[in-house]
Amino acid sequence: MTKVRIIEILKRDDFGSNVLVNGWVRTRRDTGSFSFLEINDGSCLANLQIIADEKLDNYEQEIKKISAGCSIVVSGEIQASPAKGQAIELVARSVKVIGWADPETYPLQKKRHSFEFLRNISHLRPRTNALGAVSRVRSRLNFAIHQFFEKEGFVQVHTPIITTSDCEGAGEMFQVQSTQQTAATQEAGEHFFGKQAGLTVSGQLQAEVYAQALGQVYAFGPTFRAENSNTSRHLAEFWMLEPEMAFCDLDCNMLLAEQMLKYLLSDVIENCQEDMNLFNAFIEKGLLDKLENVISSRFEHITYTEAIERLLSSGRKFEFPIKWGIDLQSEHERYLTEEVFKLPLVVTDYPAAIKPFYMRVSDDGTTVAAMDILVPGIGEIIGGSQREERYDILVSRMEQAGIDLEEYDWYLDLRRYGSVPHSGFGLGFERLVQFVTGMANIREVIPFPRTPGYAPC
Ligand code: 4AD
Ligand code: MG
Repeated sequence: MTKVRIIEILKRDDFGSNVLVNGWVRTRRDTGSFSFLEINDGSCLANLQIIADEKLDNYEQEIKKISAGCSIVVSGEIQASPAKGQAIELVARSVKVIGWADPETYPLQKKRHSFEFLRNISHLRPRTNALGAVSRVRSRLNFAIHQFFEKEGFVQVHTPIITTSDCEGAGEMFQVQSTQQTAATQEAGEHFFGKQAGLTVSGQLQAEVYAQALGQVYAFGPTFRAENSNTSRHLAEFWMLEPEMAFCDLDCNMLLAEQMLKYLLSDVIENCQEDMNLFNAFIEKGLLDKLENVISSRFEHITYTEAIERLLSSGRKFEFPIKWGIDLQSEHERYLTEEVFKLPLVVTDYPAAIKPFYMRVSDDGTTVAAMDILVPGIGEIIGGSQREERYDILVSRMEQAGIDLEEYDWYLDLRRYGSVPHSGFGLGFERLVQFVTGMANIREVIPFPRTPGYAPC
């Protein structure tokens, strides 16, 4: 008999045919001469109801002892369900228990558990409705990203995870060393890679290399930041998507980012309906309207200087005082995108002093061609810029930032040989998943979150 996943069974109407299904039991309920088993196999949010009659030969010895968390294999007949809320049920011919789960200790009982509680059992939490749904939506978004860039003619580049350059220059790198290296051998300059290496904070610089050969590329992979910020939007390990385009200025960059976000939101609304309805009903009321509104609106654009003016005239008391030159804090970003514009907001032309060395200096000499995209509920979801393609200006920016030019000679070569205007951005993938699902904390949208003091399995 063919094994069928629940998502397929629930679509069928060939009543009377036999199928084999695997899954984990969510609940068992006994009534008179039979038991109802609700099972889930992860293929979709919905459970399949199994009817197990007392005439089954292991009914008393096994079936009546089945509890939440047990894994079972069922063969049975597809039938139209007389019950409300489901179209299909399976009348079992046999129910085989594969793995028992002690009801005294199995932590996932029928009641709703808090996300904080579930974080302490990150190895079991994907078996819950919400975390299972997040996993499927995350996977779909990942797939849609590759589909979008394939469609647009981009080449994916696998940028390195171990690197010797600190792209953002923010001093947030984790060091990489072999266990054989003691502090003393490192002190003596003996590094495994010949020099101090770390985990990447961004694949951008390497993506730039490939953009200046292949035209349009994207990197998508794990990124690491030793940021000591325990917030609902920061992780020490997260995934970043980084497209990079040659012959592309800031406008072309912003257009791509807007088109991409709209494509991804439309894709997930279309292809993850059941999971999205769950988020809309239980996680963020009005989520689907919010996303539809983003898809159908044009993103608002303001400059950093205009943003500062808006904040100054808001009459609001912010924790971090406003003045031209400050880095926008989450409270400022959220005020602008949630209360003023109520839409994704693209903020451009930040002060050069608060942005990394690679961003292109504007004619005013004080700002750079940067763009951050802010969304309601999250704040910054994308950070990007046009890159400085002029050799002399780049060198002086690097000198100001105290960067060792020799270490970045390869990067400067890109400006020595056939330099072109080019742009790109970084999308925080978990922040996108948060925006799409409405999950309040970023720790719920990555399978195994890593934050300061926390990396359980
Ligand atoms: O703004 P960031 O730091 O930009 C860069 O790293 C550029 N090199 C990207 C580029 O132009 N290719 O980071 C990009 C995005 C942020 O907008 C945010 O969404 C996300 O990455 N991000 C984080 N997400 C989770 N946890 C953290 N600690 C994050 N830091 C940044
Ligand atoms: Mg940023």
